[in-house]
Amino acid sequence: MSIVLGIESTAHTFGIGIVKNGKILSNIKKTYTTEKGGIIPSEASKHHHKYCKEIYSESLKKAGIKEKDIDTIAFSQGPGLAPCLHEGLEFAKILSSKLEKPLVPVNHCVAHLEIGKVTGAKDAVMLYTSGANTQIIAYSTGKYRIFGETLDVGVGNFIDNFARLLDIGGFPGGVKIQELATMGKNYIEIPYVVKGMDISLSGILTNLKQKIESKKYSKEDLAYSMQETVFAMLVETAERALAHTGKKELLLGGGVACNIRLQEMCKIMCEERKVKLFVPPRDLLADNGAMIAFLGEIMFNKGIKVSRKNVENLEIKPRQRTNDIDVNWK
Ligand code: ATP
Ligand code: FE2
Repeated sequence: MSIVLGIESTAHTFGIGIVKNGKILSNIKKTYTTEKGGIIPSEASKHHHKYCKEIYSESLKKAGIKEKDIDTIAFSQGPGLAPCLHEGLEFAKILSSKLEKPLVPVNHCVAHLEIGKVTGAKDAVMLYTSGANTQIIAYSTGKYRIFGETLDVGVGNFIDNFARLLDIGGFPGGVKIQELATMGKNYIEIPYVVKGMDISLSGILTNLKQKIESKKYSKEDLAYSMQETVFAMLVETAERALAHTGKKELLLGGGVACNIRLQEMCKIMCEERKVKLFVPPRDLLADNGAMIAFLGEIMFNKGIKVSRKNVENLEIKPRQRTNDIDVNWK
């Protein structure tokens, strides 16, 4: 029996979740947004600093537990924006000292994948589509192996950039693009860039920029055509990984997986291939503290933790990769 508190702070969101025996007791978060322009890391970290205590109290209250009930504190060690990761680590260190509990350093991407277990998925190919990351992943011999990924920007950052080019507001842009796309009627040809199980998005962004500047197309048609093209690229690479591995489950993860059209396209492909599709609820897809607590608990139960006397030596890992992590809890 353990109660684990998880801290998420890698980018735009500061979240604290509490998990007990694999059950999510609370999942409170606050997200930094902008009116115009993208994330400014130093501003996002100030946002986290401002709200961390409030989110902490709210999360404890929602979970119906007291500070002293917490057995360990898990935190996102990487990858992410350094100033934001720092805020999370500092808060974790304060809690470790105050509650006299060890810390569990968690990889943010692996947490996005592991939380998928709440859907019942057992051995899935994972399509992980978020702001900074776009990867096709499957577990094999002790690691989450990256079968394919974006060769340049993550699909979420790409969509957020596209939204800024369309001048439809600041960060995040995904939901606004999804709404615009539902009103698009005409498909406009856009480059389709798949290389094996990898994709590339930066050239597509340049092409979209040229199309916007030409003023020949409506925003709705461009949003619609972007989604149809880029999501087809994601579905194709996921399908290739399913064929390659022979696995019979596809699991979605990351904030872009909230997109209704992407979910729908994955569903069609999975039905055609007789593969089962698993989609976690929205509040577990985008960044959140519960996924950090969830993986933190699994690791803690395997004895993975940093004792209080070593906590001060802990550092953030802004560039940590999914396949750097030894997955010895399967
Ligand atoms: P990473 O996991 O790579 O560190 P992240 O932590 O920034 O990325 P998430 O919270 O997992 O990201 O996802 C945020 C991204 O999801 C943003 O780019 C946002 O625009 C995008 N997003 C959210 N909802 C939608 C949607 N409905 N359609 C498309 N994109 C969406
Ligand atoms: Fe994320």
